[in-house]
Amino acid sequence: MPYVFNIPAAVVTGGGASRELVVHARRLGGSRVLIVTDDFMVQSGVVQTFIDLLQGAGMPSAIFSGVQPDPTEQNVIDGLAALQDAGADLIVAIGGGSPIDCAKAIGMLATNGGQMRDFMGYEKIPRAGMPLIAIPTTAGTGSEVTRASVITDPARDEKMLLMSVQLVPQVALVDFELTMSMPGPLTAAVGVDTLTHAIEAYVSKKANGVTDPIALSCVSLVAGNLRTAFREPGNRSAREAMSLAACQGGMAFGNSSVCLVHGMSRPIGALFHVPHGISNAMLLPAVTRFSLRGSIARYAAVARAMGAAGPDDADERAAEALIDALEALNRDLAIPRLREHPRLNEAKFFSSLEKMATDALVSGSPGNNPVVPTAEEIVALYRAAW
Ligand SMILES: NC(=O)c1ccc[n+]([C@@H]2O[C@H](COP(=O)([O-])OP(=O)(O)OC[C@H]3O[C@@H](n4cnc5c(N)ncnc54)[C@H](O)[C@@H]3O)[C@@H](O)[C@H]2O)c1
Ligand SMILES: [Fe+2]
Repeated sequence: MPYVFNIPAAVVTGGGASRELVVHARRLGGSRVLIVTDDFMVQSGVVQTFIDLLQGAGMPSAIFSGVQPDPTEQNVIDGLAALQDAGADLIVAIGGGSPIDCAKAIGMLATNGGQMRDFMGYEKIPRAGMPLIAIPTTAGTGSEVTRASVITDPARDEKMLLMSVQLVPQVALVDFELTMSMPGPLTAAVGVDTLTHAIEAYVSKKANGVTDPIALSCVSLVAGNLRTAFREPGNRSAREAMSLAACQGGMAFGNSSVCLVHGMSRPIGALFHVPHGISNAMLLPAVTRFSLRGSIARYAAVARAMGAAGPDDADERAAEALIDALEALNRDLAIPRLREHPRLNEAKFFSSLEKMATDALVSGSPGNNPVVPTAEEIVALYRAAW
């Protein structure tokens, strides 16, 4: 079976990468820019530095800062109106996965019309979105290089997943210096999202020769640097490594897909508004245990890349060691169990199990898992992770 690998035409990495904005904005023919971001990025002064850069190059910009964490369909509609009001021909997304995902959806609706739900699923978008430059400020989602956008429909308590080459940004400016301001808990949440991307990309049924080495490199970078970035926010080399890891994680899963952890995590995010990385992390050990038998050798390779097993350990032993390593990482990063998380209401959780299992399956992600679960098995896994 042939494999496609889609990433932005330009991925710029390293300290100061974001200061290359004007070069790429010009190259893409931008004359008026819409900056899509959130309130924090405006208040922190980061957005103003980019407005000044663009202004200095004769490119006026307008700001849409109404993106909420886990952006909603309404955020996209409001952003589209801002784009049209500004008469912009280029979008620059500045922030974590939420502003970048929202910007992808705004640009896609601008050229395709219609509503978000029309484009849910895989490769359902006929026309390319408006040109987009993504500048991540968290080191987590890798959205700056992926064809994914996740938009919440609050009316149905559902996170809609859109996967299409038409959503890939033209340029990603991956500047770790913008991530230095992340506090420890945010660093942990987004960092385990990155790890989950890499593990799922590597064990996915769509894993391939291009994504495999990128996924394993990402696992090693996270294992070697996430604890340091969490404990020492000012550690530049750990921050640089985590930014690179997030970008690699995105390149891997964006082209080989995520699996059951993400499938089960999105319904928790939609219902309980738990940060995406945390809901992944709380599920990761239990779902990995369930999935081991489908791909022992690959989980063993992940364990070795994490340093949890050596080259001489048998695959079964290495794969078991992976579960311990994932649990230890959650402990070290102060990630709670599902039942300990303040936003998870026990009664609502247990009465929503069937809906969550159905929504997980509908997203398509569980179909790529080494062991493809039934709805009953997903319900049992939610119970086991509780
Ligand atoms: N498209 C993809 O490929 C993909 C992959 C994984 C997750 N996602 C989606 O991404 C979203 C989560 O993105 P996220 O985890 O990056 O978080 P986010 O964008 O929701 O941001 C979380 C919080 O961190 C703040 N923040 C951002 N940068 C900061 C910095 N440098 N310093 C301090 N605070 C900062 C934000 O203002 C916000 O309050 C979810 O909706 C998830 O579903 C998308
Ligand atoms: Fe993710």
